[in-house]
Amino acid sequence: MGWALLAGGEPMMFNTARILVGDNRKTLATLEAGSVQTCITSPPYWGLRDYGEDDQIGLEQTPDDYVEQLCLVFDAVWRVLADDGTLWLNLGDSYAGGSAASGGTQRLGPNGTLNNQRNDVQLKKVGQGLKPKDIIGIPWRVAFALQARGWFLRSEIIWHKPNPMPESVTDRPTKSHEHIFLLSKSAKYFYDHEAIKEDALTEPAARNKNAEGYQADYAKGDRFSPGERVFGADGKRNKRDVWTVPTQPFAGAHFAVYPPALIEPCVLAGSREGDTILDPFSGSGTTGVVALRNGRNYVGTELNPQYAELSKKRISDDCGMFGEVEIEHI
Ligand SMILES: C[S@@+](CC[C@H](N)C(=O)[O-])C[C@H]1O[C@@H](n2cnc3c(N)ncnc32)[C@H](O)[C@@H]1O
Repeated sequence: MGWALLAGGEPMMFNTARILVGDNRKTLATLEAGSVQTCITSPPYWGLRDYGEDDQIGLEQTPDDYVEQLCLVFDAVWRVLADDGTLWLNLGDSYAGGSAASGGTQRLGPNGTLNNQRNDVQLKKVGQGLKPKDIIGIPWRVAFALQARGWFLRSEIIWHKPNPMPESVTDRPTKSHEHIFLLSKSAKYFYDHEAIKEDALTEPAARNKNAEGYQADYAKGDRFSPGERVFGADGKRNKRDVWTVPTQPFAGAHFAVYPPALIEPCVLAGSREGDTILDPFSGSGTTGVVALRNGRNYVGTELNPQYAELSKKRISDDCGMFGEVEIEHI
């Protein structure tokens, strides 16, 4: 965060974004311990895409190898996170075996363009007891591994996609969700539930004295008839753990980006204005865009220099004079 003077001499606050280019298992070591309040990120899915770089995560031969590499990244995140910090981890699942569309690997060329000519890294995605067609369960494998390494596993948020990728399957329902796990370093951590309250839309069942948002003095024997019930002062309730957000491709990137609306609650609940937010798999910089829009600073790490340039332009265009974006090659 910094200050600039407007033409009339008025001070103006601006936020900063840094994008470190390199393998996050190395670049994260250059950040100051405890300097990040929350980490919001979406690692490459296992075996789905080849991002065209050495050292990329996602092309390990087995789920266990993939989980182990992600654990190394999140060990490094642990060090840079404040003791009351949080990690919001978006992970999708896939199926063992199959074609590119149903679970094989897609090759990306320069700038993330699709390159179907090069399928030299096709993973079969079987082994470890997996049979072709098995759902792999990657999100929970990662979640349990992080829990075992000391993270508190606090919430399983379902990202419900109303516009999922069409699938030509007829022997199971079409997949229309991903996971976002909320993890913390400590049992007590910063979480601004007020900042993300949602409208209390439904009326609790009659005589449900625990009904959220309603008041009745049961100690005095008071009871409300439905017409007398009173909503909580602000008509709001604690945010639920199923979030319906349409996917939204970013024109500049041909790889999976998450929509800004999906991660805005993570930014708002996970940090205060002026805090720093980290995305170790920065990609097109969606986390940076939402961080700066909300008065937070951003540090991203990205292996692919072209994606880093793309994200620099995207964040700069979005924040205009209210931010400063720098790329550092580590
Ligand atoms: C799913 S994309 C992230 C997309 C991002 N959430 C967005 O909205 O643009 C994953 C990114 O991780 C990057 N990546 C893969 N392995 C990496 C590594 N070891 N270090 C840093 N970045 C890596 C890939 O190049 C890719 O850009």
